[in-house]
Amino acid sequence: TILILDFGSQYSHLITRRIREFGVYCELLPCTQKISELSWKPTGIILSGSPYSVYDHDAPRVDPGVFELGVPVLGICYGLQEMTNYFGGKELTNESQVWMSHGDQVTAIPEGFRVIATTNTAPFAAMRHNEKSLFGIQFHPEVTHSVDGKQILKNFVLKICKASQNWTMQEFIGKEIDRIRKIVGEKGQVIGAVSGGVDSSVAAKLMHMAIGDRFHGILVDNGVMRHNECAQAKKMLVDKMGINLKIADASDRFLANLAGKTDPEQKRKVIGNTFIDVFEEEAKAIDDACAASGGQPIEFLLQGTLYPDVIESISFKGPSATIKTHHNVGGLKENMKLKLIEPLRELFKDEVRELGRLLGMDDELVWRHPFPGPGIAIRILGEVTKEQVAIARKADYIYIEEIKKAGLYRQIAQAYAALLPVKAVGVKGDKRTYEQMICLRAVETSDFMTADWFPFPYDVLKRISSRICNEVEGVNRVVYDVSSKPPATIELE
Ligand code: XMP
Repeated sequence: TILILDFGSQYSHLITRRIREFGVYCELLPCTQKISELSWKPTGIILSGSPYSVYDHDAPRVDPGVFELGVPVLGICYGLQEMTNYFGGKELTNESQVWMSHGDQVTAIPEGFRVIATTNTAPFAAMRHNEKSLFGIQFHPEVTHSVDGKQILKNFVLKICKASQNWTMQEFIGKEIDRIRKIVGEKGQVIGAVSGGVDSSVAAKLMHMAIGDRFHGILVDNGVMRHNECAQAKKMLVDKMGINLKIADASDRFLANLAGKTDPEQKRKVIGNTFIDVFEEEAKAIDDACAASGGQPIEFLLQGTLYPDVIESISFKGPSATIKTHHNVGGLKENMKLKLIEPLRELFKDEVRELGRLLGMDDELVWRHPFPGPGIAIRILGEVTKEQVAIARKADYIYIEEIKKAGLYRQIAQAYAALLPVKAVGVKGDKRTYEQMICLRAVETSDFMTADWFPFPYDVLKRISSRICNEVEGVNRVVYDVSSKPPATIELE
C-alpha cells in the first residue's frame, strides 16, 4: 500500500486516483497522521502539494517519521519543499513561479541531495538523495497537463517502491465479502436504504453476496422518484439479484408533508425527516420480525459512502461551507445506535461502476446519472403536488429518452427536466392556452463541484421540445438552462 499524505492540495485525490489506475492500492490520509500511529507499513510515501508556503507560520509540517521509516518518499511541489526544509535546504519566495507551483521555489538543495531535472525557470525541478530513496519534484505529475506525469508516478510506485499490482475490482469483491462476514459474524443482521441508484445497489449486492437474507434492504418510495423508477429497481434488485428488499410506499405521506411548502430548504428538510421516520419504522418492523423468528436484533447499517466523501470528511482543509442541506441516511436518529458498514468507502465512482458491471448489473443502472435524494421535489419550483410531480415526471422521461436515442446520455454527466410554476400564453390547435413551463438542464462535469451546460445539437433540442409540448398536458413552453455552476448549481433548489 502506498501512503499519500495530504497537505491540502486540490490535486491530492488525483494522485490517489492515478496510482489506483496502475493496479496499486493506496490510501490518502491527512498530513497530520503520525507514522508511528499507523496500523500498517506503507511500501512508499507520497507528500502532496499544498496551498500553504512552507514559511507560513501555520504551515502543515511533515512528520519526521516519514523519513525514518526507510521506505521511498516522493515529495510533490510543497512535498518537495517540506523535504528541502526538513533536510536544511533553502527556498525562496518567488512571484515568478515555476509552472504549476504557487510562490515558493527551491534555491539550494539540502546536503546529500542532487538535482536530477531542471527547466529554464526552475534550476531544481527535481532532486534525489544520493543514498536514500528520497525524491522531490516541483511540478505536479498527477495532473493531465504533465504529459509524462503518469509515467513518473508509475516509475516511483512500481520500480522504486516495488509496490504490487494487486488492486483489481475482482480481488476487491472477494476481500470485501470476507471483511463484511468478519464484521457481521455468523448471525448478525444488517439493514440499509437502497435507492435504485448505482452506489446503493452495488453496496446491497455485496452485502447480499456476503450474508444473504440477513441483509435487509429498504427502498422508500417517496413519491418524487422518476417515472417507473421503483418498479425498475425492484426488477433489478429483487428479481435479478435476489436481494431481500422491502419496498415501502410512502408517497402519500411525503406528499402530505410537502403540502404548502415552497421554501427549498424547508422542502429538503421535510423530505429528509419523513425519510428518516419511514426508514426507522420499517427497520423496527424488520427488527421485530427477526426477534420473533429467533434471529439476532439488527446491529448494522449499510451505507454507500464513496471515497471522495471519506476524503472530504478527513480533509486537512476543514469543512467547506454548506450551500444546500444534502439528504442522505446520515441523519438517522441517535437512538438507532447502529454500527456503520461502508463497503464502498475505498472506491471512486468509476470503480463502483466497474464493480457494478462485474456483479452483473445492467449498463442502464451502471451508467445512470446521479439522482438526488429529494428527487423531483427539488426540480419543481414552489409547491410539490401530485399533479405537478406527474407533469415533471413525464417531461423528464421524454427528455431522457430522447437524449438516449441521440446517443448523448454518457457524454452528459447529469440531465433532468424541471417544472417552472409560471404560466405563459400559448396556442394549441385553435385554442389559446395559459400553461406552465418546462426547464431542461444538462451538464458536463467531472466532479459536480463545477459544471458547464451541455451544448446540445439544435435538432435534438427541437425534437425534445416538440415532444414535451405535444405529449405533456399542462405545458406549452420549453426552455433550456444555459447557466454554468458557479454561479448556478446543478439542481434548481
Ligand atoms: P448541486 O445542485 O449542489 O448538485 O450543484 C451537485 C450534485 O449533488 C446532487 N445533489 C444531491 N444528492 N442528495 C443527494 O444525494 C441531495 O440532497 C442532493 N442535492 C443535490 C445533484 O444532483 C448533483 O449531482
